Amino acid sequence: MTPMKTVKDYIRTIVDFPHEGILFRDVTTLFADPRGFRIAIDQMLHPYAGQPIDKVVGLEARGFILGGAIAHQLSVGFVPIRKKGKLPGAVISEHYQLEYGEAVVEIHDDAIQPGERVLLVDDLLATGGTAAAGIRLIERLGGEITGCAFIVDLPDLGGHKRLLDMGMEVHTLCA
Ligand code: PRP
Ligand code: ADE
Repeated sequence: MTPMKTVKDYIRTIVDFPHEGILFRDVTTLFADPRGFRIAIDQMLHPYAGQPIDKVVGLEARGFILGGAIAHQLSVGFVPIRKKGKLPGAVISEHYQLEYGEAVVEIHDDAIQPGERVLLVDDLLATGGTAAAGIRLIERLGGEITGCAFIVDLPDLGGHKRLLDMGMEVHTLCA
């Protein structure tokens, strides 16, 4: 009998994208598979079963796909953190370094109320720069971060440790 595929088995690696030397973990193949997508969402939610969560925050862009499904499953609202200049209302911003480049992320300044319990979601944790910027945005609005959930962890790039050092609870599905 063929063994059941794990989340990792649905993810492909593209060499030298978007720059030479980067091994790009492409989760579109996971999202495109009905079983793959379902088990990823179920496994991301598992550690938070029974925990009160008021909002799911997703990081652009693949965090929107995961965050929307997770928010629907929890019957809570979804809030996007977007790259600079994309959100139409009043925003607050944070600068950060990427594995390959530099960027700014933003959140609407009324998207989270003080004391709301937030689950932060993205597809992948590399240097942790994006997630750390997202955490700073949520905390500046007074949100309390229950946890940070990712599919892929690239621990050699330091992101996991960086978020733990910020006092975060971090859950990832595969390396
Ligand atoms: C990827 C990924 C994470 C981030 C992780 O997004 O989806 O958001 O990089 O890297 P880090 O831990 O080093 O910050 P990307 O910047 O490629 O943006 P995109 O999803 O908009 O393409
Ligand atoms: N974001 C940062 N590093 C990445 C990688 N290696 N694969 C996919 N997304 C990334």
